[in-house]
Amino acid sequence: MIVYFNGKYLNEKDCRISPFDRGFLFSDGVYEVIKYTGKKLICFDEHMQRLKTGLNFLGINPELINSFRDICTKLLKSNNLSGKQSVIYIQITRGTANPRTHFYKNNISPTIYANAVPLSPNDVEPQKGMSVILEKDFRWSRCNIKTISLLPAVLARQKAFGQNISEAIWVRNGLIEEGTHTNFFGIKRGIVYTAPLTNYILPGITRRAVIEICKNYDIPVKEKYIRESELKHFDEFFLTSTTLDVTPVIRINSLNIKRKKAGPVTEKIQKEYFDILNSQ
Ligand code: PDD
Repeated sequence: MIVYFNGKYLNEKDCRISPFDRGFLFSDGVYEVIKYTGKKLICFDEHMQRLKTGLNFLGINPELINSFRDICTKLLKSNNLSGKQSVIYIQITRGTANPRTHFYKNNISPTIYANAVPLSPNDVEPQKGMSVILEKDFRWSRCNIKTISLLPAVLARQKAFGQNISEAIWVRNGLIEEGTHTNFFGIKRGIVYTAPLTNYILPGITRRAVIEICKNYDIPVKEKYIRESELKHFDEFFLTSTTLDVTPVIRINSLNIKRKKAGPVTEKIQKEYFDILNSQ
């Protein structure tokens, strides 16, 4: 695989990251995941804007990523992925500093890394729906920043995986927030609910696209928390993310909630979202 690393395109075997990289030592960095449909990078500008917000939060120069569209195109080409559905991963850390200290000097050069990998089509879950578990949120309170510090997500998803379940949904003070790598939606009597944009959820790019779809098709949408105790009264659930698109949830295992299949509102939103992906 050819990867991008600090201005160069290298064979992955030749990509060497210092053990003093602050990403490795402190998770001092941010990342993005972008979908390439085979024709187009989806919502590229929105992903760059979110990455810039993260870089600003960390105090890293956001201008560093101004040439990323070109880098993504070159990565796809050099890995023979042009025309094939793929995912681009971008990670920027504060850079390398020896000795290890929590504080940093402002003259460090950030480490900029990106790769492109084929995305194998997931034909099962978007059709049949998936199961989730609920997990008490033990993340920090700036979940709106897409930091590489993903240990809570790793542990919660591994717990779900151990039960043959694909996703864990974070709950804080009885309120449903989002999944470990997805945004969560519930539908009750035709109204679509999803958590509001606070510092406890990531402002998902697919979430935003889905809200737009709802507005365009007069599907009422409320950015309002769903209470864990209210979940049983909801008719439909679905998740959104760059890689899962719009995927129905048919079981919430921890609460023994089961739905036979994706409901009509989810199916409508999913169809419109796929139409947007395919038309771009
Ligand atoms: N995850 N919430 C969290 C915590 C996420 O990590 C993600 C994305 C989302 C959905 O955001 P978007 O629609 O912009 O992909 C919500 C990426 C895909 C990941 O970590 O792989």
